[in-house]
Amino acid sequence: MADISLNDLLPVSACYTPEGSLTIARQELAKLAKQFGTPLYVYDGQTIRHQIASLQEAIGHFYQGSSEITYAAKAYFSLGFARRLADQGIGVDVVSLGELKIARQAGFSPLRVHLHGNNKSEDELVTALKWGVQAIVVDSLEELGFLSQLAEKLQLKGRVWLRITPGITVDTHHYTQTAHSASKFGLPVQDGQAAEAIRQLAHHPWLTMTGLHTHLGSQFFEAEPYREAVARLTELAENTGIIPQEFSPGGGWGVPYTQDGKSNDPQPWIETVAVAVEQKFNRRGWPLPRLVVEPGRWIVARAGLAIYTIGTSKTANDGTQFLAVDGGLADNVRPALYQAQYTALPLQKSEGKPVRKVTLVGKFCETGDILIPEVYLPPLQRGDLLAVPVAGAYQLSMSSNYNLAARPAVLWLEEGQVEVLQAREKAEESAWWTGK
Ligand SMILES: Cc1ncc(COP(=O)(O)O)c(C=O)c1O
Repeated sequence: MADISLNDLLPVSACYTPEGSLTIARQELAKLAKQFGTPLYVYDGQTIRHQIASLQEAIGHFYQGSSEITYAAKAYFSLGFARRLADQGIGVDVVSLGELKIARQAGFSPLRVHLHGNNKSEDELVTALKWGVQAIVVDSLEELGFLSQLAEKLQLKGRVWLRITPGITVDTHHYTQTAHSASKFGLPVQDGQAAEAIRQLAHHPWLTMTGLHTHLGSQFFEAEPYREAVARLTELAENTGIIPQEFSPGGGWGVPYTQDGKSNDPQPWIETVAVAVEQKFNRRGWPLPRLVVEPGRWIVARAGLAIYTIGTSKTANDGTQFLAVDGGLADNVRPALYQAQYTALPLQKSEGKPVRKVTLVGKFCETGDILIPEVYLPPLQRGDLLAVPVAGAYQLSMSSNYNLAARPAVLWLEEGQVEVLQAREKAEESAWWTGK
């Protein structure tokens, strides 16, 4: 297990004022909380650039062929955020009409966009065909048939990848395993569906197959499954007589959420993928494909921080000490959905003060609205501010209006600049109230 410190969990620009108040990009978070209210989410621009640069460096170091980093928008996306990422020259993986439209408006070139999803709508497929995205990632034989009809009807040519399900189970929560034999995603290899899709695309009048893709799951730390996936996909290509020009082993590499978590280091992932692809392609005398890695969490999780205000504290009959914050399940469903772990810290440094074990809960009407079952915190009371680090991925993008909660404001922080990515929702302007 790697030695993770609190600094490894906080955004890279995190610092304290001389008075002990936490800052990101030299912006004092307590002041931002006062100005924008809580719950408040902030993203540190420097951390995102840092994550992208370290991935680029690792890929440049280990892979001889051309490559692309493609951000999985499902981790978090909004127009301002997408613009910032487009500026970084990376690609984007989208899974809905909303994400497609934002990617387009944010200035992504269609040649950097991949459309994923296990049940794409006609609208989504048509929009992607018309925009000429880099690849529509076909997920099933049924979808291949439907897309073929649409392309023919519109008289539009399209590039496709096939999402392959190699039957590999990675060590993560079963809700985030995606390439095992019972997965709803992709074309299974074992029963011949993947080979059949390749056969159907061989001389297709409208669709050209340019790549093979798989995504093994999310938040795992073992590199070996990537090696196995590369082996199974290249074997499939060989058996069906194709040479993929593009090759994408998806995303999924984990990040630490607590000090008991595993390393932030992307090297085992990138080195394993790069070496495996080079070996498998070189051995067959094939030109190296464009390698497309597709992380979501790894790029944005650490950049995000959730800021809450403490409300009620109470002791349950069994002695459990509860501390409640003004957010919870509606802005972060991950603990309830798959027992995701987090830590928390006060925005105001409290060195030397004794800590006590508390259960950090949200304000929502579910007993399962527990953000952190056990965390050691100094004495905190109503009105104090608390931060939950590593809050940048799959929190806001999975947020809800449960109990008619308004979604939090979201800020992008740079030194000397605060950009509002999402204004706090106004409950009374929403469809619950207006009916529109
Ligand atoms: C096809 C695909 N690619 C990439 C990702 C990104 O995964 P992660 O955020 O774990 O890197 C996902 C997430 O589910 C995905 O489904």
